[in-house]
Amino acid sequence: MPGDKSISHRALLLGAIADGTTVVENCLVADDVLSTARCLRQLGVNLDGVGTTTVVVHGVGGANFFPCKEPLDCGNSGTTMRLLMGILAAHPFESWLTGDASLQKRPMDRVAIPLQRMGAKVEGRTGRYLPPIRMRGGKLRPIEWALPVASAQAKSAILLAGLFADGVTLVYEPAPSRDHTERMLKAFGAEVVVQGQSVAVVGRAKLRGQKIVVPSDPSSAAFFLCGAAAMPDAEVTAEGISINPTRTAFLSLLRQMGATVIVQNEREQSGEPVADVTVKGGKLKGITIAGNLIPQVIDELPVLAAIAAVADGVTVIRNAEELRVKESDRIAVMVSELRKLGAKVDELPDGMVIHGEAKLRGAEVESHGDHRVAMALAIAGLLAEGETIVNDADCVAISFPQFPQVLASLGAEVTMA
Ligand code: S3P
Repeated sequence: MPGDKSISHRALLLGAIADGTTVVENCLVADDVLSTARCLRQLGVNLDGVGTTTVVVHGVGGANFFPCKEPLDCGNSGTTMRLLMGILAAHPFESWLTGDASLQKRPMDRVAIPLQRMGAKVEGRTGRYLPPIRMRGGKLRPIEWALPVASAQAKSAILLAGLFADGVTLVYEPAPSRDHTERMLKAFGAEVVVQGQSVAVVGRAKLRGQKIVVPSDPSSAAFFLCGAAAMPDAEVTAEGISINPTRTAFLSLLRQMGATVIVQNEREQSGEPVADVTVKGGKLKGITIAGNLIPQVIDELPVLAAIAAVADGVTVIRNAEELRVKESDRIAVMVSELRKLGAKVDELPDGMVIHGEAKLRGAEVESHGDHRVAMALAIAGLLAEGETIVNDADCVAISFPQFPQVLASLGAEVTMA
């Protein structure tokens, strides 16, 4: 499996503001992380090896980016835009941040409002601060901020701004989300204190360049591990994936659905727990996925919905309204596309109800330009009888360019038109 997307972004961004050199190994080579690298270069950061799995970042030692007159193009990447906004909040010049049609529909208010409270000026379209974003940073004051939604991107943006504030910045999240920023900030030498669902960072931090070995991406592995779970004779092992507890709730859900999940060779890599994970398929049963667990399976919900279609009984996904503001409206899109394959699915405002035991039939479906939708539908296609065509599937390059090849190596017949 390729390197983890969330951790790759963070390694480049923290490396950029650290003192000295950061070497990032097993860095994800995919469009989203390339967007982060491109924006950093626009801001005057030198990076070597971009486009390969080993990237060397020459840190500028603090809020020392150069102003960029051109818009910073974040492509499809919400993580790039939100985390970069946190860092740019400390830079006393104007920046424009933009992205593709999907990113321009995604709300930045969750970042813009706290950053303004800290002293930055931020403008966006409508009350939700849709991109393009225009902002001007400067001297920041620390804040205590309760996030209205559990979002690792919003939490991270505030913590990154907090690095440059005078005092302690505290973020409280309504449910635990991925904690890679907290872990990596500690590795780079910042003072970070985690207490339950609050995280504090001490400002005026001095970060030192590090060697980061990025674990492999559990959310990319999830497509194959979930696919294997739904096929009685299948067995798939993903080696060296992050088993950070904020990312692996899908493995517990697969167990609950009736699959066998074996975690072996647990070790630590750059402050993150990693392991080799094997899933053996079985007859699955429907489950309920709701509440505080949602942020910890948010990226796996499309593929979990796909396999729920062939499980025995009903699967209910609730409290997942965040899915509507991802790279696409993943509730509406998964409901409509799974239906084309013969699944029985009801749409809810905050999730869906999947009536299992469907006999899926191959069909022509649409990715809506959303990488995780494309891959989830490919897995649904494996579970269907006959051929499935996923249109506009190039978007897998956003997080996992080798997805079709890996799928083929596991025995599926795959052609990319
Ligand atoms: C990410 C956080 C999640 C996730 C996204 C990556 C991150 O988004 O869906 O794919 O790297 O912090 P939110 O924090 O907006 O929920």
